[in-house]
Amino acid sequence: MAETVKKKTSTKTGTGTAAKKTTTARKSTKKSAETAVQEEIAKIEAVAPETSADKKKILFVASEATPFIQTGGLAEVIGSLSTALAATGKFDVRVVIPLYSDIKKEYRDKFTYLGNLYVHLAWRNQYCGIFSYEKDGVIFYFLDNEFYFKRPGCYGYFDDGERFAFFSRAVLEIMPFLNFYPEVMHCHDWQAALAAIYLKTNYCFRQEYQFIRSLFTIHNIEYQGQYSLDILSTLFDIYGRYQYLVEYNNCINLMKGAIEVSERFSTVSPTYAEEIKNPYYAHGLDPIVRNNQFKLRGILNGIDDKGYNPQLDSHLFANYSAEDMSGKAICKSELQKMLNLPVKPNTPIISMISRLVAHKGLDLVTNVIEEILQDDVQLVILGTGDYQYESYFKDLARRYPDKVSANIVFNGDLSRKIYSGSDIFLMPSKSEPCGLSQMIACRYATIPVVRETGGLYDSIKPLYNGYTFSNYNAHDMMYVIREAIYDYRDKEVWQKLMYNAATSDFSWKKSAEEYEALYMEMLK
Ligand code: GLC
Repeated sequence: MAETVKKKTSTKTGTGTAAKKTTTARKSTKKSAETAVQEEIAKIEAVAPETSADKKKILFVASEATPFIQTGGLAEVIGSLSTALAATGKFDVRVVIPLYSDIKKEYRDKFTYLGNLYVHLAWRNQYCGIFSYEKDGVIFYFLDNEFYFKRPGCYGYFDDGERFAFFSRAVLEIMPFLNFYPEVMHCHDWQAALAAIYLKTNYCFRQEYQFIRSLFTIHNIEYQGQYSLDILSTLFDIYGRYQYLVEYNNCINLMKGAIEVSERFSTVSPTYAEEIKNPYYAHGLDPIVRNNQFKLRGILNGIDDKGYNPQLDSHLFANYSAEDMSGKAICKSELQKMLNLPVKPNTPIISMISRLVAHKGLDLVTNVIEEILQDDVQLVILGTGDYQYESYFKDLARRYPDKVSANIVFNGDLSRKIYSGSDIFLMPSKSEPCGLSQMIACRYATIPVVRETGGLYDSIKPLYNGYTFSNYNAHDMMYVIREAIYDYRDKEVWQKLMYNAATSDFSWKKSAEEYEALYMEMLK
């Protein structure tokens, strides 16, 4: 218990011995002296630096985090938002993720083993090792169980429900072990939904857990964690009386449960927060979102603008800045050489770096790309995904060897070479909760062409730092791509766009402030 109560006392009485002394003095003196003492406390509080006891404790619960393991944008947000919040000096931020066997060895070797415990879940009692590593002011915990996590990759297994139930339960179990009870437990996506659900069902009756608030952030509403109701108690260990919390359309729906139980829930852009009230975007959850909209917020993600900096990025063929873009031409010609495309400085390169899945708008691309390829352009694709799209782009590259390069891999180094070496970045998503690639492209002065949805709408302003189209329509997309190609030929117009894009502020500063305000609102 101690933790929360102790903390509250320390905030009230200010910091350090001086404050304690004055508190004692206050008790034994009369009214006027009391006022003087209070003034003194106020003075001390005003100048005292935040000590660790003053910091609000935040625990991120997520299934991936950079730099340790990444399958998508979620990992980058966990890695960079936690760091940005810690850097404010106001939060003691810790992050917990599973210890997958794919976690990079360079880090793994440096982890500290803290101990182990057994996690009880329905009829199972499973080992959980706890490792930690501190990076840029954030403590990361890694939960080890080889039966669940010693496998390649992060997801896609038949027992993912059980794996993340174990993980979520373990998150609550390690709190007494670490003597760390967060004020806000910030859970991300369905894999962490059960941590919020267990907190508000099985654990809230234990004194130490009573003051923990939960915030649930939806990075993509498409993946909800849906299971048969048959395994409610045997696998998830949820009592029958709580079935109504997680039940939706005759299934268990973990995302729905987390929305219901959390004090607040959020999405990764303001526009997406509005969109998911609508059946077109909500994958069936819109009634739940609408019922709970009083506690919904949308906060736009930022990017790690130090990590993505064309001036310092060692992956690039040449470095450059918003003020001096000369290096970008080298990045372009070297990229063309590397990808076996003709080296043509005045031919615009359109690039796509994306998971090759339907909601990224690939059906629009496949519909009109051959028409666009009749113009003097080159197309560079990087990503993996559905077989249908992978083979489509491979075939396109085979048929247009002088115009198309299809790289069906996930390659961080190449992605930076493409961001820096291309001119136009295409992202015509059908839905996009936030999207980080359009912001990264901007940072490298590559002009995004996006559909006006979710975070794309919130980050790209037409004719300022990119081009946008509204309807999910292949010819509307083609029209704006052609507009961009046309403007590309006008050096002055294009220089201005590149400058605006490269200097658009996508740092975490503003978003971290919004999260801070949200946490504070939750702690009132
Ligand atoms: C998911 C979303 C993407 C978002 C990312 C980080 O991958 O699809 O739009 O940028 O999460 O929040």
